[in-house]
Amino acid sequence: MFTSGLILLSISEQDLTSLNTLGLQAHAQALLRYQSPDQLPELSDTVRGYSSVFVLGGGSNVVLAPALDCLVVKVESRGIGIYAQTDSHVIVEAHAGETWHDFVEGCVERGWNGLENLALIPGTVGAAPVQNIGAYGVELDQRFHSLVAWDLHKGQAVEMDAGDCEFSYRNSFFKQAEPGRWLIVKVRFALPRHWQPVLGYPDLQRHPVLAQAGASATARQLFDAICEIRRQKLPDPAVLGNAGSFFKNPIVTAGVLESIRKANPQVVAYPQGDGSYKLAAGWLIDQAGWKGRRMGPVGVHDRQALVLVNHGGATAQDIKLLADSIRADVASRFGVQLEQEPVVVGTPGDNLRG
Ligand code: EPU
Repeated sequence: MFTSGLILLSISEQDLTSLNTLGLQAHAQALLRYQSPDQLPELSDTVRGYSSVFVLGGGSNVVLAPALDCLVVKVESRGIGIYAQTDSHVIVEAHAGETWHDFVEGCVERGWNGLENLALIPGTVGAAPVQNIGAYGVELDQRFHSLVAWDLHKGQAVEMDAGDCEFSYRNSFFKQAEPGRWLIVKVRFALPRHWQPVLGYPDLQRHPVLAQAGASATARQLFDAICEIRRQKLPDPAVLGNAGSFFKNPIVTAGVLESIRKANPQVVAYPQGDGSYKLAAGWLIDQAGWKGRRMGPVGVHDRQALVLVNHGGATAQDIKLLADSIRADVASRFGVQLEQEPVVVGTPGDNLRG
């Protein structure tokens, strides 16, 4: 069945533990490495032999069950270049398997500015549009131009603009789409020639270099500051397994905010401009006393309560028990339902194979 460039790994190599940043123990029925667009037609033929398929990027936004009864396609295609130039923008194109942070740094080095607020977000370029990544005042959709996706069912490439991708807060068409149908091949970003630093986020205003430079801050200064801020708060997945923010910041009505504020005047809330408010889930979890707590092999990070960590040897079931406990506690204390950010793949309670 595997005749040309696709690499199907042997059974013993189907261990996904090192391929997800939470470091959860997981095996797949089969694992295949996609490295170049000329493999796409063959890939479509191959996936027909499996009842389900999961496309894996950097593994930084997934909770993998121990036994995945599916073909996992690991995206490893590389390449970065200029797709087009206009008077106002450089349109930069990157293959899906590029590491997001390295891509952002490469752009800053070449003077293609606009992505620096998104430095150090783990994962790949191809995964970035799936959850519409965002940080420090910039969301991916503000810089997005278009992408090429491969429809694994029909065996054809599809060009998609921002409207087709249906972006919203940590959400897109791809997060809602039929699982295993789409593989993002290339993503293009429109980076402004007349760039202005985005400095509004409180952590940036407090940063000494940025506070001094103000509007004349360079993209490199902003990039370095963001890396420094993130390193202070967020654990490095290579050292302590994690999937970034584990819950979305919930959007609530003014009424819900008021009832929380009565008992908790310090509640952190950002007006959304439509009468609703975004609450800081990290603050809610912290106030509920979860910061730094452990439950078996997993726990809540001691510097950022929004991040769940694997202290070693955890499975999806351990993460689920902790996440469910936090969700139930926050709901009973504040009347707010937290929604999980990482995608669950497979059934957490299933046991490891043999
Ligand atoms: N807070 C606490 N205790 C905590 C954590 C946060 O009180 O343990 C408070 C902070 O003091 C602050 C507020 O909650 O007043 C918000 O915290 P922070 O600025 O750290 O940002 P966040 O809302 O926790 C979001 C994104 C991050 C992104 C940062 C910076 C979500 C779910 N998370 O976090 O994105 O890096 O803003 O823009 O939107 C990710 O999605 O994986 C991610 C890391």
